[in-house]
Amino acid sequence: MYSSKITGLGYYVPDNVVTNNDLTQWMETSDEWIQERTGIKERRWIDPKTEDTTAVMGAKAARIAIERAGLTKDDIDFIVFATLSPDMYFPGGGVQIQDMLDMPTIGALDVRNQCSGFIYSLSVADQFIKTGMYKNILVIGAENHSGGLERSTRGRGVTVIFGDGAGAAVLSRSEEEGKGILSSHLHSEGKHAEELALIGPSTNRWVPEIIEANDPEDTSYFPHMNGQFVFKHAVVRFSEAIVEGLQANGLEKDDIDMLIPHQANLRIAQFIQKKFQLPNEKVYNNIMRYGNTTAASIIIALTEAWEEGKIKDNDLVVLAAFGSGFTWGSVVIRW
Ligand code: UT7
Repeated sequence: MYSSKITGLGYYVPDNVVTNNDLTQWMETSDEWIQERTGIKERRWIDPKTEDTTAVMGAKAARIAIERAGLTKDDIDFIVFATLSPDMYFPGGGVQIQDMLDMPTIGALDVRNQCSGFIYSLSVADQFIKTGMYKNILVIGAENHSGGLERSTRGRGVTVIFGDGAGAAVLSRSEEEGKGILSSHLHSEGKHAEELALIGPSTNRWVPEIIEANDPEDTSYFPHMNGQFVFKHAVVRFSEAIVEGLQANGLEKDDIDMLIPHQANLRIAQFIQKKFQLPNEKVYNNIMRYGNTTAASIIIALTEAWEEGKIKDNDLVVLAAFGSGFTWGSVVIRW
C-alpha cells in the first residue's frame, strides 16, 4: 500500500482587515471583550467590491499549493473541497474550482463537516491515495463567513468570531515508509447538531417561507451557537482526538513537534496546550489575525507554520479539530 504526503501548501485571505474596534460600528462589543474571551484581534472579511467568493479564494490558494508541489493543474487527479459557506446551495464548490483552474474533467467531492472539514477531507484524500486510485489530490478548505453573519448586537456572540479565507494542500503518493499521513480518526455526535448550526434556508425551512413570514425575530438564517456548551465539548473532544491519534501510532505527547489545533478560540487552544504540557513553539495559533475560518483554519495555520520554517523534515505534526455537527477528529503526520 502507498502512503500519502503533503507536497504543496498555499493559502489566501482577503485584503480587507476588520479589527475588533471596526465591529463596534454595527454592534455593542469591545476589543477588550473579544480579546479576553477569544484571543481575536482582527479578521479578514471579503470586500464585496472584489471578485472574492468562497470558490475564488479556494482556487487562489490551490494555485499556490500546486505550484509549490512542483506540479501543474494537469497533474491533479481529484479535488476534495471543504466548506460550510459555498457560493451556491448546489452544486458544491469543488466543481467551481475544477473550472476556475481549467482542469481536465477530474472528479470533485464536497465535504460538509464545518470546522472538522479539512481533517475529514485530508482523511478522504489519504484513503484514495493509499489504495492507489489517485496520485495527486487537491485538498481545499475555504469559507466566506462575512456574507452570512448578523451584523448587529443580537448576533455578536457569533459574528465577532468568524473570518474569511482559504487554504489548500496537494496530497501526493509516496513510497517512503513511515512518512506522510500516519493516521486519521474521525468522529461525530449528531444529537448536538443544533447547538452550532444554520437551520434555514433549507429544505425544511425554505426561502419563500422565511421571506413570506418576514419575521424580524426569525434568526434561523443566521448561524446560531450555544457558545459555552460548544466550548465544554470542544476541550474534551480535542484532547480525545489527539490522544487517539498518538496511541494509534505508539507515540507520546512528548513526540509532538507541532500541534495545529483548529482555530476556534485561543482559550481552547491554550487549554489543550496546557493539558498536553506543550511549549509555545510546539503549538501554532493565528486566530489573533484571522478569527475562526472554519474549514480553512487548519490549512491556513499549517501553511503559515511551514512558511515560517516551524515544520521541518521528519517532524511529527498533529492536526486536530472540533466543531458543528458535532464533528471532530485528528490527523497525525510524519513530515
Ligand atoms: O469553531 C467551532 C467551534 N466553536 C467553538 O469552539 C466556540 C466555543 N465557544 C466560545 O468560544 C465562547 O463560548 C464564545 C467566545 C463564543 C463566547 O464566550 P463566553 O465566555 O461563553 O460568553 P457567553 O456567550 O456566555 O456570553 C457572556 C456575556 C453575555 O452577556 P450577559 O448575558 O452575561 O449579560 C453575552 O451577551 O457576554 C455577552 N456577549 C458579548 N459582549 C460583548 C456575547 N458576545 C459578546 C460580544 N461583545 N461580542
